[in-house]
Amino acid sequence: METFDAITSRRNIRVYEARAIPAEHLTRILEAGRRTPSSSNKQRWDFVLVQDPAQLVRLAEVWRGAGHVGHAAAAIGIVAPVTDDWDTHGSIQYDLGQATMSMMLAAADLGIGTGHAAVSDRSLAAEILGLPVGQELAWLVGLGYPADRPLKPIKTPNRRPFEEVVHHEGW
Ligand SMILES: Cc1cc2nc3c(=O)[nH]c(=O)nc-3n(C[C@H](O)[C@H](O)[C@H](O)COP(=O)(O)O)c2cc1C
Repeated sequence: METFDAITSRRNIRVYEARAIPAEHLTRILEAGRRTPSSSNKQRWDFVLVQDPAQLVRLAEVWRGAGHVGHAAAAIGIVAPVTDDWDTHGSIQYDLGQATMSMMLAAADLGIGTGHAAVSDRSLAAEILGLPVGQELAWLVGLGYPADRPLKPIKTPNRRPFEEVVHHEGW
């Protein structure tokens, strides 16, 4: 898929086919995450790949909006160091957003759907994934082939109008 087609085709997929994702495709998606740029190249992230159905069902409990993870083919847990410094937190979250999008676009390129999930119960998430002290599950991404329709460029996305969002030479 052309890069721009991957960008315009990606949408949140929350219902998946019961079809496994080939290991080499999962590796490629994770490699896209690893290659993501980060603030001062600090790479304050770890990615936990989960494919065990029982583990996926447990992870779906970490937030009421994470239900789709429970029936995904796989999920990537995006783990980051805990900090109480607001600037550091912002910087880490920026980097994690970029890593998430890199992986989502790599997945879309392969026809694989992805769905974000936030994490509310961080202590439950840490227990499920066996995270070391000082690390927390920041976000989850469910993965699987879309059950409804394949990924293809969306002509009229539900987004604010281009002219409203884009400003020239100043506000
Ligand atoms: C930071 C962030 C957190 C999100 N959390 C959730 C979530 O917990 N559960 C969920 O189903 N979708 C979640 N989403 C998906 C958004 O609702 C979705 O991206 C948005 O509605 C736009 O739809 P689209 O991705 O299909 O273009 C999240 C997205 C982002 C960027």
